[in-house]
Amino acid sequence: MNPLYADHVQRLSVNGKTILWNLLTGRHLPLSPETLESLESCLPGFPPELQGVVKRLRDHYMLAAGPPPPIAALIPARSRLALLIADKLWLADPNQARTGGHAWKKFPLSPEEITLWRACNGSRTTAAAATVAGLALDEAEALLLRLSAPTTQAIQLRERPLDRRDPALERILCPDALPGPRSSDQYGSTGETTLEAWHQRISAGEVHFDNVETTVAHAFGLPHPALGGQRYGERLHDIFEDRGWLQDQVVEVGPGDGELAEAFLTRSGGRVDYLRIDIAPELLATQRRRLPQTRERLGSATRLPLPDRSVALLFSNEVIADLSAVPYDADLPAVGAARDVAERLRRYRIPAASGTQLYNLGAWIFLEEIARVLKPGGVAWLSEFGSPEDPPEEAVQLDHPEVSIHFGQLLVVARALGLEAALEPMGEFLRFDARAFQLWRGSYEGLRAWFRSEGRDLAARAWTPESLPPGGNVEGLLWVPLSEVGAGPLLSRFWCLCLRRRP
Ligand SMILES: C[S@@+](CC[C@H](N)C(=O)[O-])C[C@H]1O[C@@H](n2cnc3c(N)ncnc32)[C@H](O)[C@@H]1O
Repeated sequence: MNPLYADHVQRLSVNGKTILWNLLTGRHLPLSPETLESLESCLPGFPPELQGVVKRLRDHYMLAAGPPPPIAALIPARSRLALLIADKLWLADPNQARTGGHAWKKFPLSPEEITLWRACNGSRTTAAAATVAGLALDEAEALLLRLSAPTTQAIQLRERPLDRRDPALERILCPDALPGPRSSDQYGSTGETTLEAWHQRISAGEVHFDNVETTVAHAFGLPHPALGGQRYGERLHDIFEDRGWLQDQVVEVGPGDGELAEAFLTRSGGRVDYLRIDIAPELLATQRRRLPQTRERLGSATRLPLPDRSVALLFSNEVIADLSAVPYDADLPAVGAARDVAERLRRYRIPAASGTQLYNLGAWIFLEEIARVLKPGGVAWLSEFGSPEDPPEEAVQLDHPEVSIHFGQLLVVARALGLEAALEPMGEFLRFDARAFQLWRGSYEGLRAWFRSEGRDLAARAWTPESLPPGGNVEGLLWVPLSEVGAGPLLSRFWCLCLRRRP
C-alpha cells in the first residue's frame, strides 16, 4: 500500500477530480493528478520542492505519516449547508446533483445528538462538546464521524477555532449539477438563441418567478430595508421621478408577473397611463389580472407594436438577456442570423472578436426599435445582467438559454443610433443599501426544501429576519449582505442602460 494513504485517508474521485479525504475529520483537498502522482512516487521521503504541498496536506490532516488526529482535541465546525429545523437536521445532499441548487435531505438525530450538534459552536473541542451534551466521548466521536463522512458533510473537525465565514463550510463536494434542460426550439439553425416558443409555453404566471427564473425585481418585490422599506418598483418610480424622466404615459416591455408595474403604479398614485408589451400570453394574462386598469399589447421588443416617435418613457427590466444572441466568427462565412451580426458590426463599427463569440443581436435590434419609437427628449431604461466589456455568455443553470449582455457594445449601438447613452451599476442606480442583509442562497434552499416537505412553499425573495414567513424554530440560517447571493440573482452582475433621444 502507498504510505500516503493510512486507513483514515482515502482517495476519492468526484467530478473527474481527485480528492484526498480524511474520513476522521471530513477535511478534504482536491489535488491535480500530477501532484498526487509526484507525491505517491516520492513518499515516504519528500524532496524539498514538495514540502509546501506536504505542509498543506499535513494542515488538512491528510498525511498518512504519523498517528491519526486525536478527535477529542479537534474542534467540530458545522456546515453552513445544514439547518436544524424543528429538531431535525436538514442537509444539502452530497449524493444528488441538481440543476440550479442542491437537493436537500433529512438526517435523523436523537435528542442527545441534537444537543451535541448545538454544542458544536466552532470553538469547543469534541471532548468539551461531548461534556456539554452529556455524551460519552466515544458516542460523540461516533456521531461526528457519521456527520463528517463524504456522504453527509455536515461537520468538519478543525485544529483551530473556526473562522466564521470559512468558505469550506459553505460548500459541499458533490457531483456537478447538469446544465439546465434545453429543447431544440430554443436555438435557430445557426445556433442563435430563440425563446419565442419557450415564452408561448409559459404557464402558472403567478409563480413563474419563484419556480422558473427569479429576477432582482422579484427578489426585492416586497418592501426591503435595502431599498429603505420600498419595493423595487416603487424605488424605480422614485428614481425616474428624481431624474425628471417620469411621464403621464409609460411603456413597460416584458413586465413578467406585473409586480413591478403594480408597485410603480401604486407609487404614482395611479395617475400614469401604463402600457404593457409582452411576448408571453400567460404572463400578459397574469399582468392583466393584477392590473386590469392598464393597457396591453402582445408583441416583441424586437418589433415594437408602437408608432414612430410616440413614446416619452419606455423601460424594460431584465428582459434583454432573453432576446436572440448569435454565435459569429468573423473568419468564417456568415450565414443566417450571423449575417445580421456581421452587417451590424460594420454599420456600428464594432470590432469583431477573434474566434466564435456570441453577440446580443436581439438587444441591438431592440435599441433600433427604441430609437424609432422614442419621442424627441424621450427616455428609455433597460436593466440586465452582464458587463461593460465581457463577451456574452449563456447562463446554463436555467431551463432556457439566457445570455449575458455586453453593455459596452450596446452603448456603441445606442450612440450610433443618435441616442444619449450611459451605463450605471444597478446597485448604484437604484440606490440599494449594500449593507442591508438578506437570507443566503444556501439557507434559502434548505428552508424551501423543508417548507415544501410540509406542503407549503417559500417564494424566492431577499428575505430578512423580519420578513421571513413564520415557520418554526430554525437554527443555522445565514444572513449575508447584498454583495453575496440570496434567493435571487447576484445584484452586482446587473447594469442599467439609460437612453435619451435628443430633443
Ligand atoms: C426575465 S422576465 C422579467 C420580468 C420582469 N420584468 C421582472 O423583472 O421581474 C422577462 C420578461 O420579458 C418578456 N419577454 C421576453 N422576450 C420578450 C420579447 N422578445 N418581447 C417582449 N417581451 C419579452 C417575458 O415574457 C417576461 O415577461
